[in-house]
Amino acid sequence: MPKKPKKLELVKTNPLFGKFDQVVKAVARSEKQPQLELGDYWGDKSALTYADLFCGIGGFHQAADELGLKCVFACDIDKEARKAYEHNYGITPEGDVSRLQMKNVPDFDILFAGFPCQPFSIIGNREGFGDARGTLFFDIAKILKAKKPKAFVLENVKQLVSHNKGKTFERIIEILEDELGYDVEYQVLNAKDFGLPQKRERVFIVGFRDSAKPFEFPSGDKKMKPLSDILEKKPDERHYVSERIRKSRHTKHKAKKSPMIWHENKSGNVSSHPFSCALRAGASYNYLLVDGERRLSPREMLRLQGFPDSFEIVCNDSQTRKQAGNAVPVPIVKAILEKVIYAEQNQTERATRAA
Ligand SMILES: C[S@@+](CC[C@H](N)C(=O)[O-])C[C@H]1O[C@@H](n2cnc3c(N)ncnc32)[C@H](O)[C@@H]1O
Repeated sequence: MPKKPKKLELVKTNPLFGKFDQVVKAVARSEKQPQLELGDYWGDKSALTYADLFCGIGGFHQAADELGLKCVFACDIDKEARKAYEHNYGITPEGDVSRLQMKNVPDFDILFAGFPCQPFSIIGNREGFGDARGTLFFDIAKILKAKKPKAFVLENVKQLVSHNKGKTFERIIEILEDELGYDVEYQVLNAKDFGLPQKRERVFIVGFRDSAKPFEFPSGDKKMKPLSDILEKKPDERHYVSERIRKSRHTKHKAKKSPMIWHENKSGNVSSHPFSCALRAGASYNYLLVDGERRLSPREMLRLQGFPDSFEIVCNDSQTRKQAGNAVPVPIVKAILEKVIYAEQNQTERATRAA
């Protein structure tokens, strides 16, 4: 079985951590009042820079921007994702991570990587490191080794934790801790617990170079938004399914409420919920339907991942659906980053005071 996340007892008992309670209260307040300026408590965070590997359309970037962090590097092999990223964030991502030369990657404080999940996921072939794409984790490790950032946040499907009886994940943690010297914690978090009407469970792995960082995962106790907040009032006609598909769904299922997302599983069973099942990049054409009538629009899919409407769609429907299905939920990343920033700033403050 993979190692359990460590507890941070040490942090709470160390007398150097005099400001711990005060900052914890600030974090609690900021969680209740999202409009609160975190800078009021933690000073200038623009000093913290990050690299956005496998950046996609920038779920990490969107959250980091909202907290004032600065992107210094991004890469993604997909041309369309790069186009959307560049248009929205004004940064041109590099391409294939495995072809990067370390001398061309600038230094940065935090590494983000939602690395491709196909080799580990139940959707894929469960071939793990035997699949060439699985080796992309080793490209992350290579960059961590060369650049030695203060911290990292990795994301993947939750099946990564149990893949190959936990051996794949254990090896990943072993490399991060023993070979690269990071203090690592991980947790499976669900987008539904961070306010989004989407059941999407992902494992997040967070590491710090300094083992005394007071990091704890966010609790995820936000109330789920109603679907009506996500759905477009006048969706375009092109999102409606054919009469044949509509009939087949309505013959199989009757929903008690509306709006609901109707989900057809692999065996053809249909169920409906006041939230969406996990969006996927390569989902079959009619896998999720609003009220059994129409597909989610690209804008609705972006909203289900927590992207604001200020995120501009520049690719076609099919590319944007794929990109949204691949993205990391913005509010989860934001909640984790608040804790990472707190850990980083708190430590810096203590180190300065102790010096
Ligand atoms: C799970 S998605 C990450 C999405 C991203 N976190 C977001 O919020 O949009 C994985 C991404 O890795 C990219 N990718 C796959 N192989 C790659 C490679 N060799 N080099 C760089 N990016 C790669 C894919 O194009 C895809 O956008």
